[in-house]
Amino acid sequence: MNYDDFADLYDHQYDVYRDDLHYYARVAERSAGPLLEIGSGTGRVTAFLARRGADVVGLEPSARMIERAEARAAQDGLKVRFVQGDARTFKFETRFATVIAPFNALMHLYTPGEQLQALENIHAHLHTGGTFTFDLYVPRFGKPNTVRHEGETFHAPDGGRTDVFLVQRHDKPRQHITTEYHVDTTAPDGTLSRRHYTLTQRYYTRYEVEWLLRFAGFESPRVSGSFQGGPLEASSDVMVFTTRAL
Ligand SMILES: C[S@@+](CC[C@H](N)C(=O)[O-])C[C@H]1O[C@@H](n2cnc3c(N)ncnc32)[C@H](O)[C@@H]1O
Repeated sequence: MNYDDFADLYDHQYDVYRDDLHYYARVAERSAGPLLEIGSGTGRVTAFLARRGADVVGLEPSARMIERAEARAAQDGLKVRFVQGDARTFKFETRFATVIAPFNALMHLYTPGEQLQALENIHAHLHTGGTFTFDLYVPRFGKPNTVRHEGETFHAPDGGRTDVFLVQRHDKPRQHITTEYHVDTTAPDGTLSRRHYTLTQRYYTRYEVEWLLRFAGFESPRVSGSFQGGPLEASSDVMVFTTRAL
């Protein structure tokens, strides 16, 4: 999944998403050494941690997302290293005390083979006893094959506006959810232009993640249903996993 096309839209959509930031900041504070963030995107979390003094490296496959992350870090006067690479195949000479994968980054691993390859690679980059923590949304979807607008409207200083419409298609046997975004920008004179992006995620159930982690050499994880540490319940929107490398 290549996020290059998404880079412009991404910050508009998710810069306001802050639920996870203080959770990952607490993880960083407790880390006994440098952190690695998998799928660091435009540096939303990375910059938040670096601003609080964390020694964090961001790993990200998309060159455009890295460009934005570096621009954000430079603007904030932060020293953060972003490395272009894939969770399955990255290689660093050093090991880390902590690895994090915020905001569904592991949903871009589409088959058990890809998932295991990435988890084993992450394991190989952690010290024994090192922490690995990440969050995934609880799979629950809106009406498929229907155009929806979920309140995403962005106003530009020139009076133009951008509306995000989406259509989701659900491939249940593969546990894939594909979202097609139709992004309409209306100029002040009423001229409409449309861009189109497609994003496929491979969603997970709680117990398959537990088995995958154990298969990849991690201890049985602690699972929460919120970033505040509450239990995973039927109403939870998020699954937060924390484990250690054995
Ligand atoms: C939903 S974004 C999360 C970005 C960032 N962590 C945040 O919280 O804003 C998922 C990120 O995972 C990256 N990604 C996709 N496939 C990946 C892979 N195989 N290995 C590592 N990162 C990947 C994407 O490029 C994207 O930047």
